[in-house]
Amino acid sequence: MDLKSHIDQSKLPQHIAIIMDGNGRWAKAHGHPRVFGHRNGVKSVREASEAAAEIGVKYLTLYAFSTENWGRPKFEVNALMTLLVKTLRNEIKTLMKNNIRLQAIGDIENLPGDCHKHLLEAIDKTKDNTRMTLVLALNYSAKWEIMRAVRHLAKAAKDGKIEPSQIQEDDFVNALSTQGIPDPELLIRTSGESRISNFLLWQIAYAELSFLDIFWPDFRKEHLYQAIIDFQNRERRFGKTSEQLQP
Ligand code: FPP
Repeated sequence: MDLKSHIDQSKLPQHIAIIMDGNGRWAKAHGHPRVFGHRNGVKSVREASEAAAEIGVKYLTLYAFSTENWGRPKFEVNALMTLLVKTLRNEIKTLMKNNIRLQAIGDIENLPGDCHKHLLEAIDKTKDNTRMTLVLALNYSAKWEIMRAVRHLAKAAKDGKIEPSQIQEDDFVNALSTQGIPDPELLIRTSGESRISNFLLWQIAYAELSFLDIFWPDFRKEHLYQAIIDFQNRERRFGKTSEQLQP
């Protein structure tokens, strides 16, 4: 039987987040410059998005560019931004055809002008699609997002709009850039590294973590299916005991 048919539809994670890592090492292993790895990574973005939508996952978040990635060589940063614009332009038809909504989290106002423009256009064009939401984390880092939420709440307190002692978890959640998006239940990272790298630190409090020993350009639908099957075989206790979970 194929892997897909082993997935239990009643225990599907509604939100999967992916740290797409290993493009540079994949390119090096194939004797090419790093940018070749990023270009090939786009095929994996397509595979992951298609597989998630076909199975019925409602949210897929991809870590495409972190606030720390600006520190990479200028040539690589420019190539990543160009690739992003090209991909947004090329994929919009597929997003529409597959009824997929695009959203972005991160400091997107500070992306290069054309990148920001194409991103907003794609978000606007797909805003009424309902099958799945594809969230791109762009110029994103969890510490940036948490600091922004803290500043927002501090200002609201200073302006007398909120009483500091009354601040609830929901107030904080609503000040994050993931506002309205449920927390991911499954976080996948490729490339064999077991790190979170400043990604969704608040939101993954109870996510199951899956570290795959392949580079991102080698990621195919079967890797997503396998990660979901592994997720479904884990016992998620949320701080309780195993016995308390028995029906
Ligand atoms: C990590 O590999 C990958 C990135 C920082 C960029 C991810 C971008 C893409 C897959 C292409 C475009 C994406 C979209 C959504 C259009 P790395 O460069 O850190 O690899 P390394 O760890 O081997 O150096």
